[in-house]
Amino acid sequence: MQPNTQEFQPFVMERMMSRYEQTVEFNLSESGVHPVTVEELVGQDQRILDEVLKTELTYPEVNGIPELRQNIAAIYQGAAEKNVLVTVGGIEANYLAVTSLVQPGEHMVVMVPNYMQVWGLAKNRGVEVDTFGLERSREWSPDLDELEDRVKAGTRLIALCNPNNPTGSILTEAEMDRIVEIADSVGAFILSDEVYRGAERSTDTETPSFFGRYDRVVAVSSMSKAYGMPGLRLGWAVSDPGTLDAMWARHEYLTISATAVSMKLGEYALRPEVRQRLVDRTRRFIRQGFPNLEEWMARYGGLFESVSHQASAVALLPYTLDINSSDLAERLRVEKSVLVVPGDHFGMDGFMRVSFGLPPEILTPALDRIGELLESLS
Ligand SMILES: Cc1ncc(COP(=O)(O)O)c(C=O)c1O
Repeated sequence: MQPNTQEFQPFVMERMMSRYEQTVEFNLSESGVHPVTVEELVGQDQRILDEVLKTELTYPEVNGIPELRQNIAAIYQGAAEKNVLVTVGGIEANYLAVTSLVQPGEHMVVMVPNYMQVWGLAKNRGVEVDTFGLERSREWSPDLDELEDRVKAGTRLIALCNPNNPTGSILTEAEMDRIVEIADSVGAFILSDEVYRGAERSTDTETPSFFGRYDRVVAVSSMSKAYGMPGLRLGWAVSDPGTLDAMWARHEYLTISATAVSMKLGEYALRPEVRQRLVDRTRRFIRQGFPNLEEWMARYGGLFESVSHQASAVALLPYTLDINSSDLAERLRVEKSVLVVPGDHFGMDGFMRVSFGLPPEILTPALDRIGELLESLS
């Protein structure tokens, strides 16, 4: 029997990235900052090095080693160890949340644009998926009247990403409160993907979590974005113990657990003093990279419209050239060896998503190459 590829909704952006990200000279499709090395993480701390060397390569606690769950819980007001399930990346936590909370044929609403994992996953599960938008004309604030219209009796889940990938916008507290009210009106869960919490550019205030604002919340995060360590493949969900148990039961089918070494390094990275150092590092890359990106855009005058951005290491650039975004991305890859994400991957032609949380010696030549192609097309 052949797999039924016709009905399968691939994760288009990840397909493109996994095919090409290792083959281009400049990868601006990545959505995190320049990655931390193991050496940079542990530095001269001989004790943690010894602990890592002595870590038994066994199955660790399947729901996450207790010290790691404690350190994660400490980042969420009102959370304890029992509120945390450790997963293989935020991506697994999102997967477990959707498969635990929404059954085929049931209804959910997804914020768009978005990292399209939850949308595609729900489609493939046979879930009825509606969307509500972030409004470009209002600096990517959410259209909550649209959300209210889409939500109905029986809506199981509202899924959102805050701070948002790809726009970099942050919900206000008033917007969060209204989303809770709308969810509560039908008893829906909120799945809040918060991987960019801590990666703020325009403010030093850490984005508040949805956890603790409502009793039906799954808050997802990971080591990948705010901490610069996607290679640890370590993420988590924070929720009530009952919901986490349903997710844990699915986790056993999918991955059993994250790895012992990752959990040990993750536990170290989330100790308060180390965590602060990592968040500061991430913000430094983001806050140095964004002005460089803006200066570069200004050099190309009318080729770009202005960008509104508050957090994350990626920006969604609206360009004025008459070329489809997938065609543009493909030409950049083939002709300039630069990988960017076309707006098409978010249903938004006319945009390209670029990462900018990179050292100038990588960002500058990469942007220059994009500029060369854009100039030749204009
Ligand atoms: C919004 C968002 N959620 C989840 C993920 C998955 O990340 P990870 O599994 O590395 O934590 C990503 C990765 O790009 C993302 O941008």
